[in-house]
Amino acid sequence: MQIKIAPSILSADFSRMGEAVKLCEESGADLVHCDVMDGSFVGPITFGGQMVKNIRPVTKLPLDVHLMIEHPKTQIKFFADAGADIITVHYEACAKISENYLRETLELIKSYGVKCGAVVNPDVPVQNIFPVFDLCDMVLIMSVFPGYGGQKFIDGALEKIKSAREYAASIGKPDLDIEVDGGINMDTAPLAIQAGANVLVAGSALFSAPDFAAAVTGLRKR
Ligand code: DX5
Ligand code: ZN
Repeated sequence: MQIKIAPSILSADFSRMGEAVKLCEESGADLVHCDVMDGSFVGPITFGGQMVKNIRPVTKLPLDVHLMIEHPKTQIKFFADAGADIITVHYEACAKISENYLRETLELIKSYGVKCGAVVNPDVPVQNIFPVFDLCDMVLIMSVFPGYGGQKFIDGALEKIKSAREYAASIGKPDLDIEVDGGINMDTAPLAIQAGANVLVAGSALFSAPDFAAAVTGLRKR
C-alpha cells in the first residue's frame, strides 16, 4: 500500500501557519493533520474551524481534522463548512454519551460529503471500534495519549494496528486507511508500517527536522 505522510501542524509556528502548510505540500506530504483540542477531552486548547477555513485556500492537500473534543456531533457542521476533507472522532468522547453516538457522528460527517474516521486512545481496545469499520474511510490508532506533541511512541499500538488491518481485510476492506498518531519518527515509522499502518502522522519529527522534505521522504521508508 502507498504510505501517506500527514504532518501535524500542532508542531508548527502558529504565527506562520500558512507557510507551514505550504511547506507540507512542497515537501511531498499527502495530508495536513489538524489537531483540534477543546481543553476538556484533553487539557490544552489548540484551534477550531476558523484555522481550518484559513488554511483551506493555501493548499490542495486534503485536510485531516482530528477532533479531540467532547460532544463532537455538535461541531461537525463547522469543520465540514470550513473545508475539512476527513474528520476523525474519538471513541471515548462518543461512548460516554450513548452507544449509538459514534455511529451517528460518523453518519453526520458523511452526510456533508466529508470522509470520516474513528479514533481509539492507547488504553482502549481497537475491537471497540470494529462495529463502525463498515462506515469508516479511515481508522486512527493513537500511539500516545492525546494532548501534546513530542511524546514517546507506545509500543502497544503495533498490535492494535495489526488487529485493525486483519479485521478490515476480513470485512472486505483490505485497503482501509489505518492512521497512527503520536511519537512517529525515523525509528518508529517502519514498525508502524510493518504492523499495517499506511497513514503516518508526524509533528515534532518533521517540524524539528533540519530538512523537512528529506524527513517526509525518510518516514516513508519501510
Ligand atoms: C497528539 C496529537 C498528535 C501530535 C503528534 O495529541 O494528536 O497529532 O501532534 O505529535 P508528535 O508527532 O510530535 O508525537
Ligand atoms: Zn492528531
